[in-house]
Amino acid sequence: MGIEKGDDAAVYRLWDDVALIQTVDFFPPIVDDPYQFGGIAAANALSDVYAMGGRPILALNIVGFPSELSKDILVAILKGGYDKAAEAGVLIVGGHTIEDPEPKYGLSVTGLIKPGDEITNAGAMSGDALVLTKPIGTGIITTALKQGKAEPEVVNDAIEVMLGLNAGASKAMVDTGVNAATDVTGFGLMGHLQSMMAGSGTSAKIYWSQVPLISGLIDLAALGIVPEGSKRNLSSLSDFVGWDQSIPDSAQMILCDAQTSGGLLISVKKDRLDYLMDQLKSNAVAEPKVIGEVNSNSPGTIQVVQ
Ligand code: CO
Ligand code: CO
Ligand code: CO
Repeated sequence: MGIEKGDDAAVYRLWDDVALIQTVDFFPPIVDDPYQFGGIAAANALSDVYAMGGRPILALNIVGFPSELSKDILVAILKGGYDKAAEAGVLIVGGHTIEDPEPKYGLSVTGLIKPGDEITNAGAMSGDALVLTKPIGTGIITTALKQGKAEPEVVNDAIEVMLGLNAGASKAMVDTGVNAATDVTGFGLMGHLQSMMAGSGTSAKIYWSQVPLISGLIDLAALGIVPEGSKRNLSSLSDFVGWDQSIPDSAQMILCDAQTSGGLLISVKKDRLDYLMDQLKSNAVAEPKVIGEVNSNSPGTIQVVQ
């Protein structure tokens, strides 16, 4: 399984009962604290394995760092990544560092799965419920942080969200048996949902009022604080998303906001929904929400209503 349907990771069968999952992610700092940045980058990289329903086992560091910055900062970034990987039961076994004017950090992650057990982004079925396991808004909030316009409580909430592993959400969906999943990252909730619908040959209806948001987000979006990537997401989706008149521009931007280390977006048969929600709660997923449903209107499209 490779890149043809834009899935979260590659899957390669080694033997009849074991397949490798392979993925990589790295990016420049989005928060001020280097230890937190390392943890967020690691949680984000591990997330693609969890989105496939797999178990991450090993990782390698990928690092860019300027020679003039204090090595203490680099040590803190690596410690943040190492501790987050340890929380996931993953061993970081090496890596590679290059000199780079802008720091960058991330992981290449290797996971395992039983062939056939992969949860792809292309198996959604008409009639499914759509569940999101983390609130959105990290792109807008980290942009506000850079501009000095975000309240510390709002930033702390966003950091908590980004540091959260998708391990519990992944275990819950594997135990439930679901039709499709992906993690919400750079293309935003709408972008990743659109890929899932296009890959599955289905369409979706989303209820704006049901989408979980990090508190304080609405005010920042109303001020027009939006990362460039989120604007690009919104404009590139214009042919695929129908916005009800009641959905304001700022809400459209929020739904397309580029996320870092976002939650899992899960498509589950309606008669398994209650079981999934129970499993999510018993796996310590704080705020899972049913945000919409899958239908067969026009494949690859999304309708957003109140
Ligand atoms: Co992904
Ligand atoms: Co990724
Ligand atoms: Co080397």
